Amino acid sequence: MGQNINWKKLATESQVVAAGRPEKNPDGALNPPIALNSTFHEGGPIGYGRYGNEAWSALEEAISILEGGQTLIFSSGMAAISATFSLLPPGGTIIAAENGYQGTTTMLKKMNELKQLYVRFINLPDTEQVLKALPGADMLYLESPTNPAIEVVDLPKVISAGKKEGCLVVVDNTLATPLVQNPLQLGADICVHSVTKYLSGHSDILLGCAVVNNKSLYDRIEQSRRYEGAIAGPFEAWLALRGVRTFALRMQRSQENAMELATRLEKDKRVSKVRFPGLSSDPYHERAKSFMKGFGAMISFEVKAEVSQIDKMCNSSKLITNATSLGGVESIWERRRRWATESHTIPKNLIRFSVGIENVEDLWADIQDSFSAAGIN
Ligand SMILES: Cc1ncc(COP(=O)(O)O)c(C=O)c1O
Repeated sequence: MGQNINWKKLATESQVVAAGRPEKNPDGALNPPIALNSTFHEGGPIGYGRYGNEAWSALEEAISILEGGQTLIFSSGMAAISATFSLLPPGGTIIAAENGYQGTTTMLKKMNELKQLYVRFINLPDTEQVLKALPGADMLYLESPTNPAIEVVDLPKVISAGKKEGCLVVVDNTLATPLVQNPLQLGADICVHSVTKYLSGHSDILLGCAVVNNKSLYDRIEQSRRYEGAIAGPFEAWLALRGVRTFALRMQRSQENAMELATRLEKDKRVSKVRFPGLSSDPYHERAKSFMKGFGAMISFEVKAEVSQIDKMCNSSKLITNATSLGGVESIWERRRRWATESHTIPKNLIRFSVGIENVEDLWADIQDSFSAAGIN
């Protein structure tokens, strides 16, 4: 927008604060407007509210700087993901995670059933499976770490293999966030986010985005947004940018809390397995260290108890909220298999835990109290 800043010279912590500001003018606004217009006077580059507005542009600039590409915001993460699938020819072939985010896998299963697309569902963290599935595929759709198994895909290797096979490579970067990895810099064509989560960070809006660094892809995705109409509201875009201002700080704190809690949970006799790439015992630790700049703030752990007790445990917490979603300032957990659409490869006793920015001792005490309230000893 208005500033004359060399963004590449700034660290993420500074980018999030400075990006997407209006031009400097005496008494000019520091923040972009909530641009409430369905239409504009004729003669300009936008023309109509479904094609763009100032509140979107400000948020798009901020995410573009964070991810190193050009951003298009959408009404939700799913809308952005759906726009990437619309790039495929009818009956095209896509490779995707068998146990990735259930919204995506459910949509893909449906498209597969209707023969709109053919989906090769595989275990993405298994690089050999990805390499075997590639020949003849049109799109490699990646998610790393996977949600909710928190397994790390070898992004540098599979992105490069996917490109060599002529696939369009898409990465859902929602869980890792741009503070931890930048898929476009690793060679992906498109990076998508549920902006609903860490980028906006306050569990008060739904929003998504697709980021690309190729003009023709940008134009195709923009056309899909323009004519399919899955557009963001200006207020949501404004709130998301307000959230982005503290994204780096929130993410740093959440990551520290997650590291500490994963370490403690791993030693707890009531827990059979902790999935968090920051633990040196995690099977994906070395892989994560090789290309990620952190380990994220999502933990999944398996509890040695009956499902009913685990549900009671999740319901008993006072500070941690028993709910779906992730990436907000508040800690949220849930037993993922309570959803019928969750992959059956996810154990029934697995709790997905989005670690927030609260005091870590308070969180630990809440976990202990919740175990006790559910009679898990
Ligand atoms: C990894 C991932 N991608 C995409 C989505 C979908 O985002 P939204 O709920 O904003 O549509 C989610 C939602 O939980 C998610 O966890």
